[in-house]
Amino acid sequence: MSAFASDNYAGVHPDVLAAIGAADALGHVVAYGADPVTARAVERVREHLGADAHVFFVWGGTAANILCLESLAPLAHQAIICAESAHIYVDEGGAPERLLSRKLLPVATPDGKLTPALAATRAIRFGDEHAVQPAVISITQSTELGTRYSPEEIRALADFAHDHGMLLHLDGARIMNAAAAQGISLRAATRDLGIDALSLGATKNGALGAEAVVLWEDRFAEGFAWRRKSAMQLASKHRYVAAQVDALLTDGLWERNASHSNAMARRLADAVRDIPGIKVTQDVQSNAVFALLPETVREALYADDFVFYVWDEHTGEVRWMCSWDTTEADVDAFAAAVDRHSAAS
Ligand SMILES: Cc1ncc(COP(=O)(O)O)c(C=O)c1O
Repeated sequence: MSAFASDNYAGVHPDVLAAIGAADALGHVVAYGADPVTARAVERVREHLGADAHVFFVWGGTAANILCLESLAPLAHQAIICAESAHIYVDEGGAPERLLSRKLLPVATPDGKLTPALAATRAIRFGDEHAVQPAVISITQSTELGTRYSPEEIRALADFAHDHGMLLHLDGARIMNAAAAQGISLRAATRDLGIDALSLGATKNGALGAEAVVLWEDRFAEGFAWRRKSAMQLASKHRYVAAQVDALLTDGLWERNASHSNAMARRLADAVRDIPGIKVTQDVQSNAVFALLPETVREALYADDFVFYVWDEHTGEVRWMCSWDTTEADVDAFAAAVDRHSAAS
């Protein structure tokens, strides 16, 4: 299978597997996170995101988002402003509604990015007991559409949120792709911009299944241990989750993996953008390419065993994702197939 479907189709980076092996070689250690591997991983995250960071490992990105949002918006009448394309709004199977029970206030965006002006359309009716109270703005970096906020754009959203008594959450399932593309540190891409809660993604960067919730203010972290446990995200053999994040954050592995998948997406976009009948629909600013193509071409690619998803059922727009392990040969073979089938259609 040559998969451009999702960066989760990729396997585990060998260095992450080695870290899991090293954690295993310790034999018996204390369960539920009170172990030396977890302690080291927490320190590693703090090296990147600040000594005052509260770090909690979980194994799912949806859970990281829900737990971040619950930490920032603990009351039932609080609401979350997000882009209409946000993972929390369209791709979490109702988890925010079921487990968080907060109203999501979606905003249509052309490119997956909120702006203060767009957020302002939902930041209304403060103090009105008949309306839910906007408490958090949630953004995704890089976005679900493969686009990227500049640091200044995130700072502006943080300032807007804070000026209006709200907080800013960042779904960083692909924050490593964004930071690598911008050539900045993870801290410069998050905390230094005024983020209040971060879902730090690792799985798409080459982990087996590991994410972290990062909170800086004590008041948001208070009670988190119980939030995570009751959300069924406290891993008993916790060291194996923590070891994965530690491995990616060691010696720049996160940056190499993210830069590689970004470069593969650029290579793919450059190879297909001038093919007649193909339209690349979004700026390629991370590891995703969005495109419109004739249905016949799409079906021919599927028949060739290429795997990818239709993103928009109405327009037929597709998403092609690149991963840490996508090779130039994978990209070139796929682009050649797109070219061949387009010429024949
Ligand atoms: C933007 C974004 N957020 C969060 C997630 C995490 O999802 P999961 O719960 O599948 O790990 C994903 C995964 O596709 C994602 O694309």
